[in-house]
Amino acid sequence: MSGRTKKTAEAIGSALTDHEVSFLALQLTGKFVEKIKKLDKFENNDYSAVESELSTLDASKYDLIIIGMPTYGNFPPKVFNEILRRMGNLNGKMIISFNTARFSGGKCLDYMKEQIKEIGGKVIDHFKFRKLFWIGTKKAIQFGKRVNENVKS
Ligand SMILES: Cc1cc2nc3c(=O)[nH]c(=O)nc-3n(C[C@H](O)[C@H](O)[C@H](O)COP(=O)(O)O)c2cc1C
Repeated sequence: MSGRTKKTAEAIGSALTDHEVSFLALQLTGKFVEKIKKLDKFENNDYSAVESELSTLDASKYDLIIIGMPTYGNFPPKVFNEILRRMGNLNGKMIISFNTARFSGGKCLDYMKEQIKEIGGKVIDHFKFRKLFWIGTKKAIQFGKRVNENVKS
């Protein structure tokens, strides 16, 4: 909605220097009220606002998937479940999950991990980026470096 998760993902990706990285962001556009309306449509399984991005998802091409979500009301937006569904078979696939939040976020990250594990994904690392105001890139780059070192191509 406001680019905090995208910024964090880009910073993580920038630190994965030993790996070939593909990056896909799902962004809601428009004024705040329009974004909220689009977010609300997800509750009715209407993902038309991000359909073109969703239609490109295919986990089979990747060894590792890093998936990040914002926290809305202690949970990721419902499109998270749709993203997992659209990626295809995640059984045994290495996955790293992260979320961004302003004041909470633990429950959201736990939920993400549970959902990924439920469909067979192997969550090898996770991180909660919580910042009330300005979300910088320092922690994200540190996290990216950790992933870069721990995951061998
Ligand atoms: C409708 C709404 C609900 C939110 N709910 C929470 C919440 O439950 N806990 C929290 O810590 N932050 C909450 N936030 C803050 C966002 O999680 C945080 O700003 C996040 O980094 C936004 O990422 P984005 O810019 O990628 O959308 C909420 C923000 C909005 C707009």
